[in-house]
Amino acid sequence: MTDLSTIRSEALGAVQAAADLAALDAVRVGVLGKKGHVTGLMKTLGGMSPDERKAFGARLNELKGEIESVLEARRTALETSALDARLASERVDVSLPTRPEGQGSLHPIGQVMDEVGAIFGEMGFTWAEGPDIEDDWHNFTALNIPPDHPARQMQDTFYLPPRADGTPIVLRTHTSPVQARTMLRPDVQKMLADGGSLRIIVPGRTFRIDSDATHTPMFHQVEGLVIDETTHMGHLKGCLAEFVQAYFEIEHVPLRFRPSYFPFTEPSAEVDVGWSMEKGRRVVGGRQGWMEVLGSGMVHPRVIANCGLDPDEWQGFAFGCGIDRLAMLKYGMDDLRAFFDGYVRWLKHYGFRALDVPTLSGGVGA
Ligand code: PHE
Repeated sequence: MTDLSTIRSEALGAVQAAADLAALDAVRVGVLGKKGHVTGLMKTLGGMSPDERKAFGARLNELKGEIESVLEARRTALETSALDARLASERVDVSLPTRPEGQGSLHPIGQVMDEVGAIFGEMGFTWAEGPDIEDDWHNFTALNIPPDHPARQMQDTFYLPPRADGTPIVLRTHTSPVQARTMLRPDVQKMLADGGSLRIIVPGRTFRIDSDATHTPMFHQVEGLVIDETTHMGHLKGCLAEFVQAYFEIEHVPLRFRPSYFPFTEPSAEVDVGWSMEKGRRVVGGRQGWMEVLGSGMVHPRVIANCGLDPDEWQGFAFGCGIDRLAMLKYGMDDLRAFFDGYVRWLKHYGFRALDVPTLSGGVGA
């Protein structure tokens, strides 16, 4: 019979030597598991005389209890040191200085779009969009500029190779095609038929072959369109006067409506704002000179008909305004090309704080 004290000292030694929880469990199985030494001895009890069994059984139980409690103590110790090691290795040094955080800024174009959106939003306009790559029909024909019409030369167009089905396409030369796209929408036609009125602004990119200090081949416009049964030229003037005052944040901006020509409006007017020189800079307000900011007019009956509406019933106004020019005038940049060079220093100087949402009550110019 194996000497119990040998089993005991071997077991206790193995428990202390176990370096991790897996090794400790192997020791437990070797001693107390189904085929363990102590378990094996337990099985021999049945073959003993009652007296032997009593005496030996008591010693075995004592040994089993001792080994169990040593195993438990060792397990707790191993778990604690494993946790300590993890805590030490995953420690965060809260005294380390944080990494410097670069703060971005909003590009003036985005800022001005938001300002324009906030102002017209309060006047009941919603924001509409259309594709930069436009088909010839929406960009020209629907707007009463048929093929071979000389007005096509007013806009130096980037023509693209036609679509596979032969549709001629261009980079849109203005945001006006979205007038047609919106009027043609079935939900808009239904809304009008139900007695509603259409009021949209369309901020977006536009393209013309042109490049100097005040022209870039890609630039930005915001289109405006109002269609219902009664809107007239007086509303156009009132709406634009309101917009210009809210945008430039000065009362009584001198405005001039100058008769003009656009194929898609009749009558048409270009709108100029008065400016004056202050500390060598041209600022809005005053009457030293006039600067054109937008084109406008009453939507041409032929455009209304092209968009599936009866021109005897529907009328309204439209305008198209250069966003880049609005930005330059309000924030004092004089070279448009710098807008699109992507210099971080320029953006730091002229950019706007993010999350400063323009509102009429809080100030649109943030
Ligand atoms: N689409 C015209 C342009 O880009 C501007 C405009 C829009 C004029 C709407 C009248 C009405 O020059």
